[in-house]
Amino acid sequence: MNPMLNIAIRAARKAGNIIMKGYEQSTKDTEVAQKGTNDYVTAIDKAAEQAIIEVVHQSYPDHAIIGEESGLIAGKESNVQWVIDPLDGTTNFVHRFPHFAVSIAIRENGITTVGVVYDPIRNELFTGVRGEGAKLNEFRLRVDNKRDLAGTVLATGFPFKTPRHCPAHLNMIEALMEKGVADFRRTGSAALDLCYVAASRVDGYFEIGLKPWDCAAGDLIAREAGALVTNFVGGTDYLTSGNIIAGNARIVKETLNSIKPILTDDLKK
Ligand code: IPD
Ligand code: CA
Ligand code: CA
Repeated sequence: MNPMLNIAIRAARKAGNIIMKGYEQSTKDTEVAQKGTNDYVTAIDKAAEQAIIEVVHQSYPDHAIIGEESGLIAGKESNVQWVIDPLDGTTNFVHRFPHFAVSIAIRENGITTVGVVYDPIRNELFTGVRGEGAKLNEFRLRVDNKRDLAGTVLATGFPFKTPRHCPAHLNMIEALMEKGVADFRRTGSAALDLCYVAASRVDGYFEIGLKPWDCAAGDLIAREAGALVTNFVGGTDYLTSGNIIAGNARIVKETLNSIKPILTDDLKK
């Protein structure tokens, strides 16, 4: 097995154990602090991130790490960067809504080469290695081959941290329903949404304003399962813009066409 994948899995499982211990405590015992509009962090997010950093640095002391909670930890070997979201789905975690994950991506010279997303509730481990495919536990993943949006179920996230985008987001939902989308899912974990595209549990996914740690690992897993992933105008710099669409190529193209007339200038990226 790819040695860095091995370490990423070890780190994700360790963080998952910390999250599950926290999950079993009473909600009253979970310290919650606010970072920004509707943006929360708990002591568990921080402990899980610390555990991941320790595991990574034991094996790779010179690698750089960008963690949601710690920011950039520069490394001597600046061409390898670990991008970490220790708990994707904090709002779900705080409410004891059982859907969240640990997300770890490894980027080499700016290209994501390994992605690990671990759901500790279901003990589901999603992995992707560049050029080698994507797996859920031991099973290979492949996106479905739906021909168009009619009858599809799409995952999305509301732009609750940037409410100015709410009108555009609601207009996108309406335009997609007009194309025959059967239903939408708002699960609360962007990392798992992308993995669920890979596993064909949903037919597609779109969201406004993500951060790289939300989607870097899920992006690789979805693409390695055969998905197309783009920004809102069909480009590939979604890790920078944070605007993301994923699905099979036909679903993504029809989604791009459907949202085109709605895009405000700051969403055309
Ligand atoms: C959030 C989740 C959520 C998405 C938000 C993210 P967090 O991550 O991925 O599904 O809608 O944009 O910020 O804050 O729980 O790590
Ligand atoms: Ca996140
Ligand atoms: Ca997080």
